[in-house]
Amino acid sequence: MTSTSCVVLISLLVQLSGAICPQGCLCISDILNCGSSGLDRFPNPLPFTTSVLDLSHNRLTWLAAGNFYGVPRLHTLRMSHNRISLLSPGAFHNISRLRYLDLSSNKLQVVGKYHFQDLPALEVLLLYNNRLTRVESNTLMGLGSLRKVYFSFNQITDFPFFSIRKHSHPNLVTLDLSSNRLFRLPVDDIVVLPFAVQKGLFLHNNSLECDCSMYRMFWHWEQKGYPSVKDYKDDYKCLMYGEPQISINFLRSSHYFENCTIGKMISLISPKADKIVYEGEQVRLDCTGTLNGEDLSYSWVTPHQENISQLIQNGTLRLNQDGSLEILAAQSIDSGVYQCTAVDNTRMVNESREVNLTVVAQCMEEPFNTGYTTLMGCVVTLVLILMYLYLTPCRCGCCKPPPPSPSISTSGEDRCTLASIFAAPSTDRLKSKSQSDRHVVFLEPLLMGKNGQPFVVEQPTIEWDTENFTIIRERNDSE
Ligand SMILES: *[C@@H]1O[C@H](CO)[C@@H](O)[C@H](O)[C@H]1NC(C)=O
Ligand SMILES: *[C@@H]1O[C@H](CO)[C@@H](O)[C@H](O)[C@H]1NC(C)=O
Ligand SMILES: *[C@@H]1O[C@H](CO)[C@@H](O)[C@H](O)[C@H]1NC(C)=O
Ligand SMILES: *[C@@H]1O[C@H](CO)[C@@H](O)[C@H](O)[C@H]1NC(C)=O
Ligand SMILES: *[C@@H]1O[C@H](CO)[C@@H](O)[C@H](O)[C@H]1NC(C)=O
Ligand SMILES: *[C@@H]1O[C@H](CO)[C@@H](O)[C@H](O)[C@H]1NC(C)=O
Ligand SMILES: *[C@@H]1O[C@H](CO)[C@@H](O)[C@H](O)[C@H]1NC(C)=O
Repeated sequence: MTSTSCVVLISLLVQLSGAICPQGCLCISDILNCGSSGLDRFPNPLPFTTSVLDLSHNRLTWLAAGNFYGVPRLHTLRMSHNRISLLSPGAFHNISRLRYLDLSSNKLQVVGKYHFQDLPALEVLLLYNNRLTRVESNTLMGLGSLRKVYFSFNQITDFPFFSIRKHSHPNLVTLDLSSNRLFRLPVDDIVVLPFAVQKGLFLHNNSLECDCSMYRMFWHWEQKGYPSVKDYKDDYKCLMYGEPQISINFLRSSHYFENCTIGKMISLISPKADKIVYEGEQVRLDCTGTLNGEDLSYSWVTPHQENISQLIQNGTLRLNQDGSLEILAAQSIDSGVYQCTAVDNTRMVNESREVNLTVVAQCMEEPFNTGYTTLMGCVVTLVLILMYLYLTPCRCGCCKPPPPSPSISTSGEDRCTLASIFAAPSTDRLKSKSQSDRHVVFLEPLLMGKNGQPFVVEQPTIEWDTENFTIIRERNDSE
């Protein structure tokens, strides 16, 4: 047989197999149903015509890259009740039209950037009842069509609320994080979520810490009648002093929170925030607040006391219509406090927010998940240095030090890796920092009432008890 006829034969076989139904499955025009068929391996090849694929109730343990090659019409994929613990990068290549993905009741532990980035059309993502402890900050990045995401019944301790914004997820209406292990909520990030997301944010049955800002947020949502809070009122519990034994149903036992000054509701927006970015990154500082009038204007004061109020766009800065300020490539001199003021020109009210931007050098602070790489780099560098010292001709202490070697002493990278051996772990520093900034004393003059009317409060000065985290006192109690 000549090689040409061999190729022809193979391609004919491949084409034919496209129409063959995988063993144990039912092929119904565009539906391929392999549910409950005891599969422990991914069926292959899949019929080209498949647009709905059911693989639920099987024994699959992982998804390999390229599993879905050859089914470009796939829009619904059900894989619940398997044993999937691993999604390879590229597992969802070639199914960019997928709208519905059910991975619930599996054994996934971490989801991150590389898992769903090939699914720009994804609308519904079911990840409940897995073993997730971590949702990386970029997991939902690029999923601009997303409407509903379910993460409940996992062991998630924190969630990247800051990654969800109106412009990145305009259609999101359900974010279910109930029955997880969330403890300290990043209230500042949650209250600036788009209203549609706030309305559909399910946070009940978590082990929340009793805390005034947390309580105020849910109280506010209950007043607004959000079903996510009203329908699960009994499941909103918090732990007093963080003790699991002292669990309080806080929407029913409001007397515990009488000192949270609900009566004179203050703004939910903390006027301060921190942002830490790497040198060279594009930075976007939001000016989101409680003002939502038609005629808003924004201005920013930079750390160098420049006042930016026109919509500008030059090589370094951009002030957008929505008030956000973008720095196209951050440099360390851009670090400092940026203050944004939003003015509602119709009602003549204003609101300010501060962002403390810190720009760190790339090589000093690696992203957390590449810390290991840094460590390896350090070890290698140390070994190289020791080898260098050992191999140089004079090894006794009385000799002159060896001349500086260009390969070691002049390389900036080596300096950085060496420095990072001895530097404190960056994560701890970032954490303790953002916590310490939560104890702010703040003044907030106004808040929107239910019908959009602002009602002005007598400038309450609120003080946090930094020890207990729970008590807030009002200093000028002028009832
Ligand atoms: C499948 O996806 C990979 C990676 O994106 C790409 O290289 C390849 O060309 C795709 N194949 C088809 C048939 O679309
Ligand atoms: C609350 O969450 C725990 C685990 O986080 C779960 O075992 C329990 O069934 C949940 N309770 C309700 C009422 O959903
Ligand atoms: C609220 O503050 C008052 C006066 O400071 C105090 O007596 C009371 O115990 C506080 N209530 C709670 C629930 O902490
Ligand atoms: C910045 O400029 C705008 C417009 O000129 C002005 O309304 C605003 O008061 C200025 N802010 C500061 C802090 O100077
Ligand atoms: C862009 O505008 C800002 C603020 O006015 C200024 O500081 C910066 O130098 C400008 N950049 C360029 C490249 O003109
Ligand atoms: C914001 O409002 C306060 C009074 O509420 C006023 O003193 C201040 O000048 C206003 N700032 C701007 C920039 O309009
Ligand atoms: C801003 O953050 C930096 C480092 O993260 C800190 O050193 C500085 O004191 C902060 N500035 C303010 C005004 O909080």
